[in-house]
Amino acid sequence: MLVLGIETSCDETGIALYDTESGLLSHALYSQVHMHEEYGGVVPELASRDHIRRVLPLTRQVLDQAGLQLADLSAIAYTEGPGLAGALLVGASIAASLGFALKLPIVGVHHLEGHLLAPLLEPDPPAFPFVALLVSGGHTQLMRVDGVGQYQLLGETLDDAAGEAFDKSAKLMGLGYPGGPALARLAQTGQIGHYKLPRPMLASGDLNFSFSGLKTAVMLVAKQAAVNHANLAAEVQEAIADVLAAKAIAALKQTGLTRLVVAGGVGANARLRERLSQAMPPGAAVYYPKLEFCTDNGAMIAFAGAMRLQHADARYGFSVKPRWDLAQLEAP
Ligand code: KG4
Ligand code: ZN
Repeated sequence: MLVLGIETSCDETGIALYDTESGLLSHALYSQVHMHEEYGGVVPELASRDHIRRVLPLTRQVLDQAGLQLADLSAIAYTEGPGLAGALLVGASIAASLGFALKLPIVGVHHLEGHLLAPLLEPDPPAFPFVALLVSGGHTQLMRVDGVGQYQLLGETLDDAAGEAFDKSAKLMGLGYPGGPALARLAQTGQIGHYKLPRPMLASGDLNFSFSGLKTAVMLVAKQAAVNHANLAAEVQEAIADVLAAKAIAALKQTGLTRLVVAGGVGANARLRERLSQAMPPGAAVYYPKLEFCTDNGAMIAFAGAMRLQHADARYGFSVKPRWDLAQLEAP
């Protein structure tokens, strides 16, 4: 089964071709980062309009790369939610139009399920069940994953997401958008131990997170006269990585599972990966998607769509769900 994946939930147009027999055949990404940069964040209307410009050319590109044609497709998967309503509608309506014209089934994919399953695209994928640490710009969740669609929420952030903590701290330091990668780059030239930042909820005894207090603490330090931004960046990154690693390990202990999957944009952070490797208990292993599939991409949508379509979750209508709780999904 050859599945075209279309991701348009936010500021990246991601298109990919996944074949259930031979795996990922091709993928392409267009990032709108430069367009939104001058506004300091994503402008939803501009995002939607740009997705319209990109989806079909990128679709042609991935087909050419794979030496295939539209007629070779068996199904189309698109991001149904959560995300920006207008941006989601672009992917959904193009998927529905192509599906109608080519008489193909289409399937709406939960964006976070895409992130969650992305490590299964790797050559040595984790077996179910596993604990997933989902860390993106809008979500920070620990999930118990027993199979496709079998997700149990173990804990989540009570306020800001980890990616948001990176982005907001970066903004307070005058770094550009998106802040996470910029802050991580600056942190490489700094040292930890110069500023004291809280590790929120570290001792809360549950698997929830809170990052809004960290942002306030960063704001207070950033206001000081002679603040060293590189050292502050290193400390922010350390505080976030400390909390994420500690809670992920606690989730492994609580569930008795031995496999941890890290997914979502913040999963690209090298220091977080280092801290997790250091903290991993004996016998446990951590799995990541490759770097380019940590952040938004079409490959994870094509793959998650294929997993669902193999269980006949296909249909011809379409919808979008700008807000959508992952734990409400059912197994296909
Ligand atoms: O998963 P993603 O691409 O989009 C969402 O679904 O939200 O995640 C984007 C988030 C942003 O907050 C971005 O700053 C953060 O991931 N991010 C990083 C890094 N790369 C992306 N944060 C820290 N270090 C990175 N290397
Ligand atoms: Zn995402």
